[in-house]
Amino acid sequence: MSDFVKGLAGIVAAETNMSFIDGQKGILEYVGIPIGELASKGTFEESVYLLWNQKLPTRAELDAFNAQIRGYHDLPAGMANRLISLPMQAHPMHVLRTMISALSMHDPDPNNIELDAVRDKAMKILSRAPTLIAYFDRYRRGLPLIHPHKELSFAGNFLYMLNGVAPTEAMTRAFDICMITHADHGLNNSTFAARVVISTLSDLYSALTAAIGSLRGPLHGGANEGVMRMLNEIPSVDEVEPYILGKLERKEKIMGFGHRVYKNVDPRATELKTLARQLAEDTGNMELYEKSNAIEQVMEKAVAAKGIYPNVDFYSATTYHCIGLSLDLFTPMFALSRIAGWSGHILEQLEDNRLYRPAAEYVGPHDVPYTPIDQR
Ligand code: ACO
Repeated sequence: MSDFVKGLAGIVAAETNMSFIDGQKGILEYVGIPIGELASKGTFEESVYLLWNQKLPTRAELDAFNAQIRGYHDLPAGMANRLISLPMQAHPMHVLRTMISALSMHDPDPNNIELDAVRDKAMKILSRAPTLIAYFDRYRRGLPLIHPHKELSFAGNFLYMLNGVAPTEAMTRAFDICMITHADHGLNNSTFAARVVISTLSDLYSALTAAIGSLRGPLHGGANEGVMRMLNEIPSVDEVEPYILGKLERKEKIMGFGHRVYKNVDPRATELKTLARQLAEDTGNMELYEKSNAIEQVMEKAVAAKGIYPNVDFYSATTYHCIGLSLDLFTPMFALSRIAGWSGHILEQLEDNRLYRPAAEYVGPHDVPYTPIDQR
């Protein structure tokens, strides 16, 4: 036998109605709508509705959907106390993973995987995740917790809970675009993890917990934090070229570049680059943007021939920094949005389930005699 494909590259392992990716042409669509269209004209809430229902909502449908999301922001009794008993130095991704898992213990019927039940649970988790993250961030900064603002959008409410003041329209819009661009992306590693877990007919909480664990890795969503660390390490725009070429010579990966599927420009990076530039200008962070742009130029000359371009994580780092988020909140922001995609895939998996159970090719020895312990 040898159908072995390392990393399952190019293997089609599921069908989806949600996102379409053409990695050669640099196309991403949600239910057929190009990501650029949604980012420039839509909202995160509309995008989630689209992904979960395969159609854009009417005004009445969107109002009802928004009311549902806003109605679930509060945490179950006792959750806030649990959050403020966590070690302050814990990474917010570990906190998010643990607290999403903990939400299952506040659900009287956590194992129910009927589609309507899962949909309702997914809505609650999507709605409560921003509260979990904002509460933890306020607690570790020694600030009073700010309760959800039910008149604000998903993006506006999160920034409000984090900062204690209503965000500007521009900041809310910028954050909303980040949420839209990260919501779904085919059978990426964390989505696959979620589908693998739910395929055993386990529960939504377990599947999402696995997905968050996967996303945290630096080869996946954790790369956005790595990008910011790299930007902080490079003292100035003039130092970009030797820094990047040095890393490439040492065969080190440049965080925020390369993708398993895109061998051309990642359209999410294009959207986020424009946004990062605007925000950097508005917030006095142009040096950060210029360093990012210079890294892109150096990489273009050095490795574009190999099909390595900026991915979604590259300009999201500058964007999140300009929005005022601390570095360790970057990956949780990705998770916040991707809960929409993971949940949609979990629903799709449950609608037409078959247990994931690939094979491993055994490459060890055979017929080995058993050696008694004192003769080894
Ligand atoms: N910097 C430098 N070289 C790179 C990079 C990079 N970021 N990415 C790929 N390469 C090179 C590899 O060294 C390899 O070169 P070689 O053929 O000379 O050995 C070649 O390109 C192919 O790379 P692989 O790692 O084999 O590609 P794969 O499809 O397995 O990996 C991955 C994709 C993991 C995203 C990779 O590009 C990477 O590690 N990038 C950096 C981390 C990152 O930004 N991850 C976020 C991805 S987007 C997302 O998950 C949300």
